[in-house]
Amino acid sequence: MGNPILEIENLRTSFRIKDNYYAAVDDVSLTVKKNELLAIVGESGCGKSALAFSIMGLHSKANVEGNIYFKGRDIANISPAKLNELRGKEMGMIFQDSLSALNPLMIIGDQIDEIIYIHNNKLAKKDRKEKVIDLLDKVGILHPAFTYNQFPHELSGGMRQRVVIAMAIANEPELLIADEPTTALDVTIQSQILDLLKKLKEDIHAGIILITHDLGVVAEMADRVAVMYAGQIVEIADVYTLFENPLHPYTRSLLNSVPNSNVVQSELHVIEGIVPSLQNLPREGCRFSPRIPWVDSSAHEKNPELHEVNPGHFVRCTCYRNFYFPEKSKGDQHHVVS
Ligand SMILES: Nc1ncnc2c1ncn2[C@@H]1O[C@H](COP(=O)(O)OP(=O)(O)O)[C@@H](O)[C@H]1O
Ligand code: SF4
Ligand SMILES: [Mg+2]
Repeated sequence: MGNPILEIENLRTSFRIKDNYYAAVDDVSLTVKKNELLAIVGESGCGKSALAFSIMGLHSKANVEGNIYFKGRDIANISPAKLNELRGKEMGMIFQDSLSALNPLMIIGDQIDEIIYIHNNKLAKKDRKEKVIDLLDKVGILHPAFTYNQFPHELSGGMRQRVVIAMAIANEPELLIADEPTTALDVTIQSQILDLLKKLKEDIHAGIILITHDLGVVAEMADRVAVMYAGQIVEIADVYTLFENPLHPYTRSLLNSVPNSNVVQSELHVIEGIVPSLQNLPREGCRFSPRIPWVDSSAHEKNPELHEVNPGHFVRCTCYRNFYFPEKSKGDQHHVVS
């Protein structure tokens, strides 16, 4: 797959709450290559959007530390003007809420036209219009010439999301970030949009980051998967390894919630609890230990590092071999899974 399009090293994104800064993304490192789809999964509040926004430089008030190399160039703290040049051209983003990404007062055609024009003002209006109609056709809009003249409120949620995707790919970006692109849509439309993204994955040869909480989608679309918990990557592996040999207790717990996964269902339990808020996040010791009160936390490494257990398979947990899920149904409190 060649050189990475994106290389993130030790990224830390902190938000100011009252007088202190709290890291929502804490020491995240990852790479994305051309033609590769990296899925990022994790419960709500884990820091997935904060990570996506940091890459795109969309945080206005957060403190972003670390390095974000896009095609070898560090963009972590470049000027807003230079970032604007990259965004919409070499980097595209699809948000969950398509309506907020569109201008309610402008017809669809003009909105896509503007994105093409900003980055290529040599193309004649007539050629741009043709390009916009082609793009609308490519994302599955049935009557592209008609939709060109429609306003966002005249379209359904699914159609609007197709338009947002057309905008994101209008300038053939080399990196595409989709942050829960189907969460706001109903199930039938969700699967149509995911089919479209799958097709685009073959077509556009970009590196893609897909943020989703749907592990079924991950299994179908991802090449590699990063699992996030409380601002950190707790496991990262190729999709096959992650589903066949999940090691971190949090990953195993997430996989347990997928019907028909290959993991033996009866031996796993979804771990109850919620992701702590930024201010209440434990910064000392393993962040996951509060969710497994049945295990004596002294048995767990203080601050587990992400380490490579097999080539390309990283886990932030040193005692996964001794970890067990309580087998409540069998009354066996000490059932070892692996
Ligand atoms: N602008 C902000 N100011 C303060 N806290 C924020 C801000 N944006 C996100 N957070 C907090 O950062 C954490 C991660 O949020 P987010 O990245 O949106 O999670 P996810 O996308 O995984 O659901 C959450 O605790 C959230 O409340
Ligand atoms: S280090 Fe211990 S507490 Fe942390 S995830 Fe691993 S088993 Fe759980
Ligand atoms: Mg989010």
